[in-house]
Amino acid sequence: MRDNHLIFLRDTHIKCNRPVRAALFQCPKDMFPSDFAWGAATAAYQIEGGWQTDGKGPSIWDTFCHEKGRVFGEQNGDVACNSYELWEKDLECIQQLGLTHYRLSLSWARLLPDGTTRHVNQKGVQYYNKVIDDLLACGVSPMVTLYHFDLPQALQDQGGWKSPGIATLFDSYARFCFQTFGDRVKLWLTINEPHVCAKLGHEDGIHAPGLKEPGIAAYLAGHNMLRAHAMAWHSYNSFYRTEQKGAVSLAINSNWLEPLHAGCAEDIAATERCRAFTLGWFTWPVFVTGDYPEIMRSAIDAQSKKLGYSGSPRLPSFSKDEPAVLGTADFFALNYYTSRKVKPGGGCEKTLCMKSDRDAEEVLDPSWPICGVSWLAVVPHGLRNTLKYIKDTFNNPAVYITENGFSQVGQLQIDDVQRSEFYKDTILEVAKAVQEDGVNVRGYFAWSLLDNFEWEDGFSVRFGLFHVDFADAKLGRTMYQSGRQYAKIVLKYR
Ligand code: GAL
Repeated sequence: MRDNHLIFLRDTHIKCNRPVRAALFQCPKDMFPSDFAWGAATAAYQIEGGWQTDGKGPSIWDTFCHEKGRVFGEQNGDVACNSYELWEKDLECIQQLGLTHYRLSLSWARLLPDGTTRHVNQKGVQYYNKVIDDLLACGVSPMVTLYHFDLPQALQDQGGWKSPGIATLFDSYARFCFQTFGDRVKLWLTINEPHVCAKLGHEDGIHAPGLKEPGIAAYLAGHNMLRAHAMAWHSYNSFYRTEQKGAVSLAINSNWLEPLHAGCAEDIAATERCRAFTLGWFTWPVFVTGDYPEIMRSAIDAQSKKLGYSGSPRLPSFSKDEPAVLGTADFFALNYYTSRKVKPGGGCEKTLCMKSDRDAEEVLDPSWPICGVSWLAVVPHGLRNTLKYIKDTFNNPAVYITENGFSQVGQLQIDDVQRSEFYKDTILEVAKAVQEDGVNVRGYFAWSLLDNFEWEDGFSVRFGLFHVDFADAKLGRTMYQSGRQYAKIVLKYR
């Protein structure tokens, strides 16, 4: 019985240095630790629908999708998989897969319609209470993300992530969630992919809130996300940890990066810069130094100077008067999808933008197969490399792979052979990371349980282990062949 969760998370005693067989199902059952989390993940806006039901407030994704030209085919998440009403169907899917864990996110605006604790929407509380209770009754542990891209619109109207005050508002929301659900939820993620939220939402403008303020807003938004995360972690640590015995982290997305030409000094340096501006941006403050990577800060400062930018430093500094950011993760949560080769360049020479700050261009290796969306080159060994990098760089933390998946576009294929193979190949790489590299991997969450609203791509991109028939009012769920494959893996190794 492990009653102190953190001891389990920091326990590095894993049998390793065992060679892993070439095929997943030839590997023995104890290839993965016996308490390994086998999960699937979703996010509130992508599946729930019920965008105005029972007192939910609007979020920035509601607003964004209702503006013309933002999302493929003018689609939106008003209904999505209607998990707000069809939760029990989702639970059946979870049970059919035999999962031990399920990762979901809470909709901040469903719980607190104007983003503040001044008004709590009890119907929202009831909904998530039921989800959590039903999961536990079925022997499935919830992993809960507080924020997966869907800021309450009321807070965006006050400046959103660009406003320093957002951090204390997030902290109040987080405390409310710990207080309300923390008796049953033991694995928490504060913010999902701050890199994606900051860059796609504030630099590129292709995610909500759709801002295009290159070279400025993403650094500011990212900074406030880190402050918000740190405050929430400290709140948990000070007020809830002793009683609730859970663990809190943030989900970091990272591609595996390697130099375009292995021995080329310029490509190696570009890879380092690229890593600093992606994985490093959010991990150096939390896991390494309490500040941004030095390469990142000096590159931004040099570029500001070169372009004669005279405003306040574009990459803010952490204040000593606020709760420290360093040390605010009880485990490492990794979202891994793909890999890139890197060379210098890719910037917009004469204007401020993140690309010219980092001066590193990501390219695809033609030998990597592309699955569905153009950005998703399938590189299972990139996950193993990333896990090893995390072990070596961040002092061997407990790692949960909180997202990993393979997309399908165009003609529907329920017998999705390639995705089935993908799951076998990828999970074999995880086994190698555990057994041969000694990485303390504690769980794997497939993205996603269901086909769902895939942000700017709407419903045109399908990541589910279950297909959802969006053309049918009943929104029927049908297991893909890859779902059956994943269920077999879970059954063998859980
Ligand atoms: C992640 C995101 C998920 C999902 C996935 C597939 O960046 O957290 O919500 O959309 O990508 O694109």
